[in-house]
Amino acid sequence: MTDYTDTARQILATNDRGGYTVPTDRLYPFQWNWDSAFVAMGFATYDVPRAYRELERLIEGQWADGMIPHIVFHTPSDTYFPGSSVWRTHHSIPTSGITQPPVFGLALKRVHDTAISQGLTDTRRRSRILYNAALRWHRWWYAARDPENTGLVALLHPWESGSDNSPAWDIALARVSTTTETTVARKDTGHVDAAMRPHDEDYRRFIHLVDTYAACEWHPERQWAAAPFKVAEIQTTAILLRSGEALLEFAREFGLDSDAQQLETFNARSRSALLAQWRPQLRRFVSRDLISGDDINAPTQACFCPLLALDLEQTMLEAATAEMNDWSDGLSVLFPSTQPTYSGFEARRYWRGPVWAVINWLLMDGLQRNGKDAMAEKLRRSTVLAIETKGFAEYFDPLTGEGCGGLGFSWTAAAYLWFLETVKTDITDPA
Ligand code: SER
Repeated sequence: MTDYTDTARQILATNDRGGYTVPTDRLYPFQWNWDSAFVAMGFATYDVPRAYRELERLIEGQWADGMIPHIVFHTPSDTYFPGSSVWRTHHSIPTSGITQPPVFGLALKRVHDTAISQGLTDTRRRSRILYNAALRWHRWWYAARDPENTGLVALLHPWESGSDNSPAWDIALARVSTTTETTVARKDTGHVDAAMRPHDEDYRRFIHLVDTYAACEWHPERQWAAAPFKVAEIQTTAILLRSGEALLEFAREFGLDSDAQQLETFNARSRSALLAQWRPQLRRFVSRDLISGDDINAPTQACFCPLLALDLEQTMLEAATAEMNDWSDGLSVLFPSTQPTYSGFEARRYWRGPVWAVINWLLMDGLQRNGKDAMAEKLRRSTVLAIETKGFAEYFDPLTGEGCGGLGFSWTAAAYLWFLETVKTDITDPA
């Protein structure tokens, strides 16, 4: 019988590049921000010092203004586009110029709690350094990406969502020019079937945005003024709020009263802003396009991520979970990144339909927080089965269960390890 736990650990070992983990060889040969946060939680199931190391290596890339970039280019590689020279940033270690979902605070809390439960030495010192970095990043988010204090943070590039070609961006991204100063020389389609990746036209728009912000010298206020893509985004805000809750617990534990006060203010603002994005007729939450002022109605996984950070009242919760159940009907693997009946759904194309283990992780946390243990368990089992049947793929086709994208994938391995640790046996609610 295959020991999948062993395989998962081997994948993390293979993708280790010296204290940090690449998402997978060649396709993503550097350290990615939210990947590393999930990977740290995976390591926490069997090697807590290595989990700390993952986070410590990520903050080597933190900028003076607090931003933690989405890629840290620790060592050169020519198997990825856009590589470090395209970004034109100025940090001691080469980095990209945009950020990614702030899972870091949540991951740090789980690593810390595990270290405390194991009585490991040096825990408070290591956690405190990482807490300081996380708090600086959260301050950056609220200052740079919510300058009007709405409580919802904005993304200036689809890559910042982690959900690059989601149908959620179709309207907003169509406004972005396809002209680029940088030559677009994709490498990803040399590693993975092009039918599973974004289109060339998407890439031209992605790179147009990189050129635009590089011309602003990555200065947050200049970027905010120049941005042709600006989305106040619910998945990112929910993650920020959930991590903000974790940081608030740290601030209290460390006796840092003024940090705690500031985090309470951030959290309260984001909590009410997220709640205001609920649309009862749609039975889900929506992001807002800040250029047009319109709701983003495309049905994607992000619409349910606010569960992660909100305690929903019963009517809302029943409506949201009924909607999730409708989307899940007849699928081989849960949960799809786009509603399967939507015109923009594509079962194998990256963020336009496939199932992602780490999204299930966030949704499971949100469901459990809201007392929907049976539904969380359904997602957990579906993911575990997909991995055990099809391997540690980057993502899965929800219709056939096929493993897609990169293989031997770090965050899928991390999710698997975490999911095996968190089996619930006392489930009483119906799925
Ligand atoms: N996800 C993007 C890529 O595929 C960048 O973060 O390269």
